[in-house]
Amino acid sequence: MNNVLIELKGIKKGYHITKTNRLNVLKGFDLNIHKSEIAAIVGKSGAGKSTLLHILGTLDIPDEGTMMFEGTDVLLMNDKQVANFRANDIGFIFQFHHLLPEFTALENVTIASRIAGNYDETKAKDLLNEVGLSDRIHHKPSELSGGEAQRVAIARALVNSPKIILADEPTGNLDSENADAVIDLIFKLREKFKQTFVIVTHNEEFAAKCDRIIKMVDGKIV
Ligand SMILES: Nc1ncnc2c1ncn2[C@@H]1O[C@H](COP(=O)(O)OP(=O)(O)OP(=O)(O)O)[C@@H](O)[C@H]1O
Ligand SMILES: [Mg+2]
Repeated sequence: MNNVLIELKGIKKGYHITKTNRLNVLKGFDLNIHKSEIAAIVGKSGAGKSTLLHILGTLDIPDEGTMMFEGTDVLLMNDKQVANFRANDIGFIFQFHHLLPEFTALENVTIASRIAGNYDETKAKDLLNEVGLSDRIHHKPSELSGGEAQRVAIARALVNSPKIILADEPTGNLDSENADAVIDLIFKLREKFKQTFVIVTHNEEFAAKCDRIIKMVDGKIV
């Protein structure tokens, strides 16, 4: 039981489309995420995968249910506590790298550590080395390939040693060679840092390699 990192119970989330019309997106489920696991979330478009990921990342809050993070009730935190928690303990990787275009690879990584209040250039350089980009640290995003930019985004997600990294289709925008490099890197980082990952993916090969597949159908986990 103590290897549970996140415990979700009875999660429901919907949106009001009009005053009387409500769209139920997450329809009530429980889910545990375990420390150091790589879990894949799969399912059809519109099943609620990104909505679930946003809730795990405190970017959105459920209408009903509870979320315990190492025994702490995240939904009871105030805004400042949540912002602090998110900056320090959660890393995000998106389909498009979302690097800041005006800044170098190194700066993009250090900015994330500065926001969390632990500016650390040495660590940023070590991580860029870890993702195979030690000779690209002064390149801006426009001077990087798509695969390289995504690896910078991975280094950025890792810089504060988060408890979990949440990734929404991290290989969705890459060719198969670069996608494979990103997948291999994620497994390597789990070995090295015992890093926990929850990854939304449409890549079946990738999902099959993960420790667990969480399948979503119409707002529920099946
Ligand atoms: N802010 C919102 N307001 C209204 N409806 C929303 C909102 N966000 C998401 N939805 C709806 O909720 C459903 C689930 O969306 P979600 O983004 O979680 O799907 P997904 O499983 O990630 O799909 P995809 O594979 O296409 O990314 C969709 O039908 C979407 O239109
Ligand atoms: Mg999505």
